[in-house]
Amino acid sequence: MLTQSQRVFGLTRRTAFNFVRHVSKYPPTIDLDGKLYKTDEWTNVPPQILSLTERQLHQDPNHPIGILRDLIEKNFRGLGYTFYNNFRPTVTTFQNFDVLGFPQDHPGRSKLDTYYLNKEHLLRTHTSAHEHECFQECETPGYFITADVYRRDEIDRTHYPAFHQMEGARLWSKNTKDLEKQLENDIAAIPPTEIIVEDPFRDAPFNVENPKQTYMSDNEVRLISTHLKKTLEYLVNLVFEEAKKSAIKAGSTEEYLNEPLKVRWVEAYFPWTSPSWEIEVWWKGEWLECCGCGLVQQQVLLNSGLPEDRLGWAFGIGLDRIAMLLFGIPDIRLFWSRDERFGKQFLEGQISTFQPFSKYPGVRRDVSYWVNGDNALHTNDLMEIVRAHGGDLIESVVLKDEFEHPKTGKKSQCYSIHYQSMERTLTNAEINKIHSNVEGDLVNTFQVEIR
Ligand code: PHE
Repeated sequence: MLTQSQRVFGLTRRTAFNFVRHVSKYPPTIDLDGKLYKTDEWTNVPPQILSLTERQLHQDPNHPIGILRDLIEKNFRGLGYTFYNNFRPTVTTFQNFDVLGFPQDHPGRSKLDTYYLNKEHLLRTHTSAHEHECFQECETPGYFITADVYRRDEIDRTHYPAFHQMEGARLWSKNTKDLEKQLENDIAAIPPTEIIVEDPFRDAPFNVENPKQTYMSDNEVRLISTHLKKTLEYLVNLVFEEAKKSAIKAGSTEEYLNEPLKVRWVEAYFPWTSPSWEIEVWWKGEWLECCGCGLVQQQVLLNSGLPEDRLGWAFGIGLDRIAMLLFGIPDIRLFWSRDERFGKQFLEGQISTFQPFSKYPGVRRDVSYWVNGDNALHTNDLMEIVRAHGGDLIESVVLKDEFEHPKTGKKSQCYSIHYQSMERTLTNAEINKIHSNVEGDLVNTFQVEIR
């Protein structure tokens, strides 16, 4: 049976490949969620990626991503938030970038990093793309959005072109009677944690580099950022305490697992918040970045049709890496596996440790070539080509060697591709075929010279 994306493109996998070789990579239109998108020079989303948009793993109550979403939502019920989980992944450049104040030359807009259906439509790169509409329609003080997001990226055990984020936001009105008192009460209502916090900015939340917005008083900034930070500490604490229990259950005896969780706040920059921060969690001997946040720029609220008196915060947290820790999942590809031996292991409301169904051997193959000087090849383009032919049989791709010939000035690159299936042993013949398709596509699309 054809998958959705193959039907959309009206091609089987094999003809899609021939199509790549001879004509153009993309059909005249892409049919997604009942809408037709006319392709153009911006189109770069392959059928395989489009087919991921059907999965909606965060909505599956028995999938690790869905279980994690549930765990967080359950702990935030009754605290004034609406939960949105049904936004479809196609958004406009207006929603993903413009309304949030991304400058025209922001790298996030690049075709190298983002999957475009056409010049005006893309697969959202973050859940912030829905802030505008949630601010417009939300009737509670705050909201959470959980959704699948898409980015062109490298291939390894923790990177997949689709992943999941949870966005949170909360607003107040400057017209509230005794707003500062109200903020203090709202802060006091956040369940306390034992977490150890390193925060050089708690009492002085803004400075020249990380400025406050002029429409807020110093005290409003301090109180709202404290509310934001305490909310995130509560969230991070609840998931990482579970991750600790799960690591101990799986047999880990590391010292830090018996100590209170440690987090630190660092300054950050996002076009639509100011001041902005990131929270990092001390995990396995290193600081793990997990969440960006800040006080929402007034312009974003005004763009959403809200009156001038509104002020508040927003954050966005990645779910996949946290779910990997919670469930002991060693490779992000497993989330997308349709193998029952994966799916059957997880049940609604339960944090269980993944039992590997056996480790299938992998095979490493190099691809070496001279780059065509007129046709630059970005790492993400190479990743996309490898993914197009190898799909989920690719465990990782790493740049092994790069040099410039001293006489000719020609540039050579060598990438090492690790082929490994999560579900079975691969045959040499099938790897050879994929590998030669990768080489063929590199030659056709980027005119490289295989060495
Ligand atoms: N969307 C940002 C990201 O993907 C995270 C973020 C959300 C930052 C909301 C600030 C406010 O990195």
